[in-house]
Amino acid sequence: MAISKSAALAVFWVLSQFVRGQNVTDNLKYVNQLIGSANGGNVFPGATLPYGMAKAVADVDSESNQGGFTTEGGNVTGFSTMHDSGTGGSPSLGTFAFFPYASCAGGDINGCAFPKKARKIHYKPESVKASPGYFHIELQSGVAAEMTTAHHTSLFRFKFPSTGDSSPLLLLDLTDLSDSRQDNATIQVDETTGRMSGSSRFNPSFGTGTYVAYFCADFKGASIRENGIFVNSRASANVKDLKINRSINGYPLPGGGFIRFSENPSDGVLARIAVSYISSEQACSNAEAEIPDFDFGATHTAAESAWREKLSPITVSSEGVDSSLVTNFYSGIYRTMVNPQNYTGENPKWDSGEPYFDSFYCLWDSFRSQLPFLTINDPKALTQMVRSLIDTYQHEGWLPDCRMSLCKGYTQGGSNADVVLTDAFIKGLTDGIDWDVGYEAVVKDAEVEPFFWSVEGRGGLDSWKSLGYVPTQDFDYKGFGTITRSVSRTLEYAYNDFCIAQMANKLGKTDDLEKYKESSGNWESLFSKNQTSFFRNGSDTGFVGFFQGRYQNGTWHNQDPLWCSTIDNYSGKSCSLQNTGQETFESSLWEYGFYVPGDQAALIDLYGGRDGFVKRLDYLHDQNITYIGNEPSFLTVFQYHYAGRPALSAKRSHFYIPRYFSPQNDGLPGNDDSGAMGSFVAMSMMGLFPNPGQNVYLITPPYFPSVSIKSPLNGKTATIRNVNFDPTYETIYIQSATLDGEPYTKNWIDHSFFTDGKELVLTLGRNESSWGTQIEDLPPSLSEYSGGNGTTNGTSGKTLGRREITMQMLKARAGLGSVDVVGLGA
Ligand SMILES: *[C@@H]1O[C@H](CO)[C@@H](O)[C@H](O)[C@H]1NC(C)=O
Ligand SMILES: *[C@@H]1O[C@H](CO)[C@@H](O)[C@H](O)[C@H]1NC(C)=O
Ligand SMILES: *[C@@H]1O[C@H](CO)[C@@H](O)[C@H](O)[C@H]1NC(C)=O
Ligand SMILES: *[C@@H]1O[C@H](CO)[C@@H](O)[C@H](O)[C@H]1NC(C)=O
Ligand SMILES: *[C@@H]1O[C@H](CO)[C@@H](O)[C@H](O)[C@H]1NC(C)=O
Ligand SMILES: *[C@@H]1O[C@H](CO)[C@@H](O)[C@H](O)[C@H]1NC(C)=O
Ligand SMILES: *[C@@H]1O[C@H](CO)[C@@H](O)[C@H](O)[C@H]1NC(C)=O
Ligand SMILES: *[C@@H]1O[C@H](CO)[C@@H](O)[C@H](O)[C@H]1NC(C)=O
Ligand SMILES: *[C@@H]1O[C@H](CO)[C@@H](O)[C@H](O)[C@H]1NC(C)=O
Ligand SMILES: *[C@@H]1O[C@H](CO)[C@@H](O)[C@H](O)[C@H]1NC(C)=O
Ligand SMILES: *[C@@H]1O[C@H](CO)[C@@H](O)[C@H](O)[C@H]1NC(C)=O
Ligand SMILES: *[C@@H]1O[C@H](CO)[C@@H](O)[C@H](O)[C@H]1NC(C)=O
Repeated sequence: MAISKSAALAVFWVLSQFVRGQNVTDNLKYVNQLIGSANGGNVFPGATLPYGMAKAVADVDSESNQGGFTTEGGNVTGFSTMHDSGTGGSPSLGTFAFFPYASCAGGDINGCAFPKKARKIHYKPESVKASPGYFHIELQSGVAAEMTTAHHTSLFRFKFPSTGDSSPLLLLDLTDLSDSRQDNATIQVDETTGRMSGSSRFNPSFGTGTYVAYFCADFKGASIRENGIFVNSRASANVKDLKINRSINGYPLPGGGFIRFSENPSDGVLARIAVSYISSEQACSNAEAEIPDFDFGATHTAAESAWREKLSPITVSSEGVDSSLVTNFYSGIYRTMVNPQNYTGENPKWDSGEPYFDSFYCLWDSFRSQLPFLTINDPKALTQMVRSLIDTYQHEGWLPDCRMSLCKGYTQGGSNADVVLTDAFIKGLTDGIDWDVGYEAVVKDAEVEPFFWSVEGRGGLDSWKSLGYVPTQDFDYKGFGTITRSVSRTLEYAYNDFCIAQMANKLGKTDDLEKYKESSGNWESLFSKNQTSFFRNGSDTGFVGFFQGRYQNGTWHNQDPLWCSTIDNYSGKSCSLQNTGQETFESSLWEYGFYVPGDQAALIDLYGGRDGFVKRLDYLHDQNITYIGNEPSFLTVFQYHYAGRPALSAKRSHFYIPRYFSPQNDGLPGNDDSGAMGSFVAMSMMGLFPNPGQNVYLITPPYFPSVSIKSPLNGKTATIRNVNFDPTYETIYIQSATLDGEPYTKNWIDHSFFTDGKELVLTLGRNESSWGTQIEDLPPSLSEYSGGNGTTNGTSGKTLGRREITMQMLKARAGLGSVDVVGLGA
């Protein structure tokens, strides 16, 4: 339909009035995708849709290229179309890269370098442009590449300098970022249409098994001079089909296809590539359906619209606020929706009609604040993710703990899908979720030990049930996994059971409620009240009483509480999944000393009351023992709330943001972990931090005059407003609050704040006040709060005696096969 110029202007005028009237702010402009593209953030900084499967970017050879591209000055090895974001471990995906040449030396096809190692080339740092749905870069060769994506399909535009014979070449490589390609990769090149299609089998980057990915590539913009395949460093237009073995040198033999054009159009050449896990036919139909006309502008605009919508539920007033903080905030939000990936319709393992999400990489990272954030910002997506987790349980037998590229990923601690499901359940997500099956799945985690618990469920369940903890050097013949991490696994299993108890409660399963409430107290078995902690130089931290590993016979193990902390650069101990790893995963006994999210009241008693608890929490942060670049630290920033000191949580949040989380390329303190760090920034800055698995948000003042959150489910708007807002962040202490106009003294709020569209007004001052400090103001805890400061060093006191687990008690437990011996406060 044609439209006259004046009519078009009239439409524009109406639209702009509409926009003005609605105060629509375009949050898109605050997204900086390059945050975390250096210094180990490992983010994917390229073009993608929310939860998109196609993720296009330039891949580099830098050491931290897990997300494809980094701004660390590496060389570009190609332009691939699938990625994960922020992950550690091996680089993920990076399948089927293109590589462009303006011409081949001497006009000879073999004058172009085909293997990755030979072709890689530096890029012009100032040429990098990234925005939602878009990425641009120029290579040292003068070739410029820009890219945008639909859900399964990427569209690249390569512009070539005029050099040589004006016969640009694009190759398509059958490898991936980590060179994991297995045998029998294939490619077919169609002589007339130029279409390339095929598949390869690859390894997942942090898991077991293999996966097969398929592709379909088409070209537009110039006529074909010749096409064919390459193997190693040689190519031929006479061969159109290739099936290639990995070969025996620990590096897949280079192989793929190429296309050479007969002219070098100034508009460049378009290359469209779609991926599928089902078949190359499905990849082709994905491509044809999603980007039928190779329309770069329309594809880019559609991607921007999709992101604009995903960034629209939360608006902030930013008057007086440094715009870099607004960028920090929305970039964090953006990263929560890059992964997981929506592979609905692309799951070759089962076809149940349920949504299928993948790249839960890993739940150990994302259960803490990323998935809770999506419960607020994108509950429809989170609902589909939960359905997918439950459906995965139905088809694989277990809820995943980590999952990527259709494969089972490695479990890091507990069965934390239990927390994810509980969080969604108690926050009222229902749409299409079969909660009976969901409950069955979490109970299986608690009750049935898998044969291979490195990828699902829990290990050591016999000991767990008879002794009330996972012993150091457990005797476990029923299932197999890395039997380290006995302390962090015990703490996580206990909290997983706490979550299951809450589901049982809401489902009216009284017996289960009591059972899992009891086992949720198992963390107490590993509290070694005499454990001390000394620095390397021999000086005493002064704190006594830590969690400690314990053998089956009840004797304590002797891990130094500072090992694997940030300041441990001396012990040489490893705390990952090595067989030689310690009893804590990726952190120290010091930091795990706070991981009792369900029963902070009891922990506060153990640490000598409020003062002792706060002193210890301060020490954890002030002495750099904690590692804010890893997820176990997240909740410790806000745990002051439980000791009636919400002001200190606010102070601590500002201590870390933006100092450790800044809107710079090197602005993340650790791996973004699929957006986990992004969600930490977003929820800290919006002033409501979750205790995941509980209907609890801990209140601190937002970093903005106000924040509004419009529920995507019912359109109601919840608002948090700061009175006396101070953009220099000296006035960050809540003096008083109202909720919908009524005085509100609790230092936490539940999810109805969002679903009912409530208004929370916080009046701020320069000093800590009594707001939120009384027992009745504190967040829920399984035990009752004892109400005082107690002793100050946690080495004496009535409550401690009650909680100390003696050898006799352990023996009694083992004998009785019951955990009734430990009385819980509530
Ligand atoms: C737009 O914002 C201004 C100030 O931020 C506010 O006073 C006004 O009510 C808003 N208008 C609408 C339609 O929300
Ligand atoms: C990166 O590419 C440049 C040329 O662009 C080359 O000089 C340099 O050696 C390459 N670096 C690596 C690590 O391959
Ligand atoms: C490759 O093909 C051979 C012969 O069909 C088969 O035995 C082998 O399992 C295949 N390998 C892979 C990794 O697909
Ligand atoms: C391909 O190479 C692998 C080594 O990666 C070798 O084990 C295998 O037998 C070869 N496949 C065939 C079909 O020869
Ligand atoms: C996931 O993909 C399916 C199939 O395309 C679609 O129906 C669904 O809405 C998508 N989910 C989200 C959250 O985008
Ligand atoms: C802790 O130390 C005290 C005094 O040194 C000792 O009496 C007690 O038995 C110790 N407790 C444990 C569990 O080792
Ligand atoms: C020992 O190291 C700690 C932590 O670095 C430091 O606070 C303390 O002052 C040191 N003590 C001595 C005696 O050097
Ligand atoms: C308990 O087991 C540990 C580890 O095998 C051993 O070192 C310790 O001596 C045992 N303690 C007792 C009291 O038997
Ligand atoms: C470990 O850290 C301390 C304190 O920062 C420093 O003095 C020491 O040189 C470091 N040692 C090593 C081996 O890096
Ligand atoms: C903690 O680390 C920061 C940044 O590296 C440093 O400035 C500070 O001095 C450290 N504090 C202690 C107590 O070592
Ligand atoms: C704890 O002690 C501090 C002073 O150290 C005091 O301000 C506070 O009111 C006390 N809290 C309780 C609950 O007794
Ligand atoms: C703190 O612990 C020491 C032993 O380490 C003890 O002598 C002292 O009485 C304790 N102080 C308090 C206030 O409980």
